[in-house]
Amino acid sequence: PAPQGVPHYLTHADLSAKEIYNLLASAIQHKHNVKYLNKSSGAPLAGKTLAVMFSKRSTRTRVATESSVTYLGGHPMFLGSQDIQLGVNESLLDTSKVVSSMVDGIMARVGSHSDIETLAKYSTVPVINALSDKYHPTQILADLMTLHETYGPQPSSPSSYVAHQTHPSKTLPGLRVAWIGDGNNILHSMMVTFPKLGIGLNVATPKGYGPNEEIIRHAQSEAKSTQTHLMFSSDPREAIKDADVIVTDTWISMGQEEEKAQRIKDFAGFQITSQLAKEGGAKSDWKFLHCLPRKQEEVSDEVFYSPRSLVFQEAENRKWTILAVIDALMVKKSFD
Ligand code: CP
Ligand code: NVA
Repeated sequence: PAPQGVPHYLTHADLSAKEIYNLLASAIQHKHNVKYLNKSSGAPLAGKTLAVMFSKRSTRTRVATESSVTYLGGHPMFLGSQDIQLGVNESLLDTSKVVSSMVDGIMARVGSHSDIETLAKYSTVPVINALSDKYHPTQILADLMTLHETYGPQPSSPSSYVAHQTHPSKTLPGLRVAWIGDGNNILHSMMVTFPKLGIGLNVATPKGYGPNEEIIRHAQSEAKSTQTHLMFSSDPREAIKDADVIVTDTWISMGQEEEKAQRIKDFAGFQITSQLAKEGGAKSDWKFLHCLPRKQEEVSDEVFYSPRSLVFQEAENRKWTILAVIDALMVKKSFD
């Protein structure tokens, strides 16, 4: 196994609330510096390489990662499933030892979560989870950043960004989020993050599509210690009650394409519409999040393209949050 002390970023279950807030505060500061002050990074990653090993498609995560490494003065080396032997013709153990001996960080998008755990176990450099079948942690940072920008201090004009003036630990606790959809990697990541930060979570999944039992127990124990609301149901209306934010994701994650017809049948009644939100009793000014890519079956156009929808701001914030994660792991070498 790799030397102790190399920080990895695989799931927020491994991080404290303070470490998650530090990443958010850093992302918000980066957005202010780069987008609004046009500051240069000083190229702290000059001469360094991040191997970006993706065995599944990506738009947001890949663009955010490559542009962030470029901003920091390093080289993002994209290695797709057709390019390298990522567990296909060579074991992950061997791949991890070889690649980590030549680069300064690894960001990987994998199928099974155990693949990213194996990469981290044998890597001598930091490993970042860019999505696995169990977790998608960088996505949740972008969601939290977007909620902070929405519920925190508001700028007096579009060009005066003020989100960095208030810490997200002041604006996020007490919000209530309703997840209406599949018990998938995005939901799991919210479950290991929100209760820890004091953000209430209502979950509605169709029968047979609930989240991982072990992650339910983990979330329940966190919710108990932070005294945060957490509820599971198979009724979307019940979960929507009093929600500030309604969130969903595709019903058919990458790798589940063959289940499409069955899933569309089983998720009947789960499409997010204004009507559903009204019937369920969401707060009148409820907001909508979706990690994208989006299909129409899980959310109607009238919600997705409405002023309630934060999805494009959320997508942009993938950039600033991934920049913060790369900065923490490859430059600061710590989450502190
Ligand atoms: N939300 C997200 O991870 O998008 P990509 O799959 O396009 O990276
Ligand atoms: N649940 C989706 C998220 C895509 C960003 C998937 O795993 O395909």
